[in-house]
Amino acid sequence: MTAFAGKRIVLGVSGGIAAYKAVEVCRRLMDGGAHVIPVLTRGATRFVGRTTFDALASEPVRMSLFDEDDPIPHTTLGQTADCVLVAPATARVIGAYAAGISSDLLTATLIATRAPVVICPAMHTEMWEHPAVIDNIAKLAERGVHIVGPESGRLAGGDEGAGRLCSPADIAAAVGRVLDSGGLRADMAGLSVVVTAGGTREPIDPVRYIGNRSSGKQGYAFAEEAADRGADVTIVTTVDRPGPASATVVKVDTAEEMAAATVKAAKQADVVIMAAAVADFRPIDPVGVKLKKRDGVPAIELETTPDILATLGAAKPHGQTLVGFAAETCDVAGNAAAKLRGKGADYIVANDVTAENAGFAYDTNEVLVLASDGRVHPVGLRSKRQVAQAVLDLVVGDRHSQAQSATQVADGTSRADNQENQ
Ligand code: PMT
Repeated sequence: MTAFAGKRIVLGVSGGIAAYKAVEVCRRLMDGGAHVIPVLTRGATRFVGRTTFDALASEPVRMSLFDEDDPIPHTTLGQTADCVLVAPATARVIGAYAAGISSDLLTATLIATRAPVVICPAMHTEMWEHPAVIDNIAKLAERGVHIVGPESGRLAGGDEGAGRLCSPADIAAAVGRVLDSGGLRADMAGLSVVVTAGGTREPIDPVRYIGNRSSGKQGYAFAEEAADRGADVTIVTTVDRPGPASATVVKVDTAEEMAAATVKAAKQADVVIMAAAVADFRPIDPVGVKLKKRDGVPAIELETTPDILATLGAAKPHGQTLVGFAAETCDVAGNAAAKLRGKGADYIVANDVTAENAGFAYDTNEVLVLASDGRVHPVGLRSKRQVAQAVLDLVVGDRHSQAQSATQVADGTSRADNQENQ
């Protein structure tokens, strides 16, 4: 039986060229046994005819807030749905939903439902990267809305870039996962996760330090995503910002302090995510009083700091997943691959910090995830929360597959033992 069997899914379709893919999404949900109710915006009908959905879905297309048979169709749809899926979701629908504005049946249903909601954005890159859209998506993700995609690729008019609707297969799979977990993505429940965030500060004197541009946003996005997915989170941070309500926050300043706190917390951790920008060098001998200009330009001798990631990699307990980062300005993949090999991590999240709208302090990021078995996963420009979501999807999926193959090996061994004993 599929996750869709017997489930009522409201399939919202809004007006973009990708609306044609919603037909295939509808077919996949129907094939899986779902009861699909298509809700189209007026714009959607300019791209795809209602007759197509009338013929394919479980019920005829709904478009109006004013139905002769049902005086409150949006509440009926919202209350009876097991899931509301919007594919494609335009910037207008995303904005209205984030702002709580209901201007048509689809946005009214979104606001009227307590069922899990899956939003699959599709739009041109310029729109997807507009700060208003980025804020709206971040707001929805924070409220627990599942954001699927978009991907990078060919767009309408022959353009290329981020903003393409995910494939119908990926959308159907995402809805399946949401339904499987009862609407809550509790796929990290029972896991202990340690995240480092922010940039360390290495004192020169009591008022000056060697620092870097890390804001902690990427680390906090990991902590929030993992906590929302049920993990027990410890965040080791240099940033004065509260973590997720359920998380343990350990505030540190220097690489030395971060090393001590992280190594301690990592002993019991299932997953460690090293998103912090840790200083590689520190002054050997920070002075106790403020350096005076009148004494001339000081010569500051530096030494290397402890390499936390390499320390964790060398002592990694069995079953622990270690995710390192690589902030690079050239040969991103090559340098990240060297860090993956050299530091004993299971994954390196390579961050080209010179890329537009990515890296230090931005709300968005774009990364390349390198796995120790050679797989490479590009994660196109999106909010830092969505980057965290994509990386954790990979980590959780791989941990799941590893656990399954370990069980199969154990089963195989005991079967072989049994046969030998017979
Ligand atoms: O915080 P934001 O403003 O949101 O920005 C996010 C980010 C750019 C800081 C983040 O995405 C990122 O790339 N973090 C890693 C920054 C970094 O220090 O990269 P690195 O290539 O110098 O280090 C490689 C890895 O080793 C990192 O996981 C780092 O945490 C770790 N490291 C480095 C030095 C050291 N002494 N100990 C370490 O553990």
